[in-house]
Amino acid sequence: MRITASEAYQLLLKDVVCSVEDWNRPENRWVKHCVYVGEAAGRIAECLGVDSDFAKALGYVHDIGRKVSHPRHVIEGYSYLMKLGLDEMAGSCLTHSFIDNDIHLTAGGPLRTDTEAFVAPYLNSHPATIYDNIVQLCDLFCLETGFTTIEKRMLDISLRKGVYDNSKDHFEHVLKLKKRIEDEMGCSLYSLFPEIPENDRNQIKDNRQKLMLLLEKPPVKTK
Ligand SMILES: [Fe+2]
Repeated sequence: MRITASEAYQLLLKDVVCSVEDWNRPENRWVKHCVYVGEAAGRIAECLGVDSDFAKALGYVHDIGRKVSHPRHVIEGYSYLMKLGLDEMAGSCLTHSFIDNDIHLTAGGPLRTDTEAFVAPYLNSHPATIYDNIVQLCDLFCLETGFTTIEKRMLDISLRKGVYDNSKDHFEHVLKLKKRIEDEMGCSLYSLFPEIPENDRNQIKDNRQKLMLLLEKPPVKTK
């Protein structure tokens, strides 16, 4: 079963954002990020000619597990939606951090053992759909403050969380996914998001080079 984007938005806010003050609580920044991912996913889906309301709904709920736990949000989100009977949407909580549903193509360091044990069998038995791919991409250029570029976001992530054995592979596959979606849309990804700050656009090449330099270095940690 699935719900509409409007229902997914309400579900995202439920028990977390009940007032204007709640929107501004630092611990609820992830909710704003989900709103932007939903908006971005809807826009891309519309351009691709697929179900934009469904894509939007998936974007809204992809991190919903953070209502329960940040470190376990992938699994908690899946369980939360499954308990509501939203089996068609729950997978998005598991797949959004893994490009093309490949467990090795992820950012931010080694997975927790329990997460890997839960996620790996699911990813191995669910080839990525266009909706999985859309949310995976949107997760990489949507902040809690709005849209940015993938290059800026991934440079930030690498500087903050470190570089791992799979980081270069991950970035290269992100760029391949972006190109694939752009080819299918017939336009550049960033042209759909005029809200991306001018400064971020001007630094795309620079940030890409900085990131590649960083990724060429030996990993500081192994994955
Ligand atoms: Fe996210």
